[in-house]
Order: sequence, then structure tokens, then C-alpha cells
Amino acid sequence: MCLNNGHNEIDKPEMKPEVNVSADETELVAQLRRYLNEKLTYLLEQNGIVSIGVSGGSMPKVFTKAFLETTEELKNLNWKRIRIFMVDERNVEKDDDDSNLGAYLKLFPQELHEIFIPFTCYRDARHTAHGYEMNLRKYLFPEQNGTFARFDVVFLGVGPDGHTASLFPGKERLDKVTELHWVAAINDSPKPPASRITLTMQCLQNAKNVAFIITGIQKAEIVRGIWNRELRYPAAQARPYNEKLTLFLDEEAAKGIPERDSSDSESPPPFE
Ligand code: 6PG
Repeated sequence: MCLNNGHNEIDKPEMKPEVNVSADETELVAQLRRYLNEKLTYLLEQNGIVSIGVSGGSMPKVFTKAFLETTEELKNLNWKRIRIFMVDERNVEKDDDDSNLGAYLKLFPQELHEIFIPFTCYRDARHTAHGYEMNLRKYLFPEQNGTFARFDVVFLGVGPDGHTASLFPGKERLDKVTELHWVAAINDSPKPPASRITLTMQCLQNAKNVAFIITGIQKAEIVRGIWNRELRYPAAQARPYNEKLTLFLDEEAAKGIPERDSSDSESPPPFE
């Protein structure tokens, strides 16, 4: 069997992400609902606890709407079997306006706040990261793939610079905080606030399902980078080994999908 196409590359068909393009937020929420319903239905049958990672920025509003509508549809849902955790977090208290967890807690009904994995904020982000990793292990007991956790579903956003979670281009070498190294600390985030904690790239790559939610023409270049596996972008590196990668895009961000780009001469400017 030929393992090599003569150019020292493994000759395997390149799987492309599943792409959902929405005309507006209503359609995006409907697409997220279908995705969440499919994943939760399957995973709740398979697992004791289902772990869902979410990001900050503009994600809390659309994710929360889709998640609450989906869970209303699920029959006999046992809330104790769903846990939501932050993929990354600013090193601030949850009542701070910059807190990702705080953004979700403001949107979720009080009685569901207990499904979120808590963390304690310390002045030194490395301590915050260490404590959060211990909580992820304690509350989630995710399947482990060697030393890395296998979270069930991870929702990611991207920045116009190609970052995802709090993993930024050129800053991939992060402070290791534990021997297992699921969570890292960063103190010079180009996106404020500077002090953050984040799942490591290996944890994102070991997830069973990764879904990006990306909107706006300023991110079309990063969509192209994900599509073409341009690894200078951390967002393009955050690809699960099992290739279960889904993109939720609006029509502007979808212009980064090459086949869709031909219909529009105004292809997005290359990211400088
Ligand atoms: C954060 C986020 C970050 C975010 C992207 C996109 O804490 O800032 O986790 O990774 O997902 O920067 O943010 P927007 O969706 O707001 O553009």
C-alpha cells in the first residue's frame, strides 16, 4: 500500500470541515440548535457527563439562545449530566465585565448556573490556570487520550489575527502550569485583558467535536486559513484529530471558503 505520494507526504484524502452558512442570527441560532441537539442526543446516550467548552467575545449570546432552546426540546434531560466550561477566560472575577463566565451567567437562568465549571481567580494567572485544571479534572472526568483530556464538544471563536481561545499567533509557547498541562496561562494577550487562562492546543486537538462560530468579513481570511490548513493561524491548528470540525459562518465570513470566493471579486484583503 502506498503510504507516500513521492513527496514525503502521507497520501490521505484531506477532509474538509462541515460548513453552515447563515443569512442572519436567527438562522445561525437554528443551525446551532440542530447541531447541539444531534451531539447532545448522541453523547447523553454514550456518556455519564457531557462536557461542552465555550468561548467568550460574541459567542455567549448566540450559544446561550441555541443551548436553552435545544435543551427544552430534549426529553427527560437530566441537567446533572451536562457541564459547560470556559475554553478560555480572562483572569478576572466572574462579576467583572470582562469575564466570559460572567457573560454566560448573566444570560443563563440562576437554576442552571451550577452546570458551569467554576474557577478561582488569583493574581498570578498560573495559579488560576492550575486551579481551573484541577476543577476540570474533578468535575468533568473527561475521557483521557494519554495525558490530554478528550472534551466532548468545544465551541471556538477566532480573531482577525487568527487566534482562537487565548492562543495567539507567535505566542504558542505558554507557561506550563501542571504536569498534565490542559490549561495554560498567558500574561501578554494582544487582545485585552492581557492576563488570561486557556485550554492548550493539544486539548483542542483531542476534542471529539470542534465547532467554530465566525462572523464578519474581517475574519474571512482566517476562514480561508482554516479551510487551507494554514498553520500560522492557531485557529487552523485547532483541528480535532478525528476531523470532526464544523464551521458556523455568516455570508461575509463564508467568503473565505475558496469555492464561494469565486462569485465575489471583492475577496477579503490578506491579513497583514
Ligand atoms: C475571548 C475569546 C476569544 C474570542 C475571539 C472572537 O475570551 O476573547 O474566547 O477567543 O472567541 O477573540 O471574539 P469575537 O467573537 O467577539 O470576535
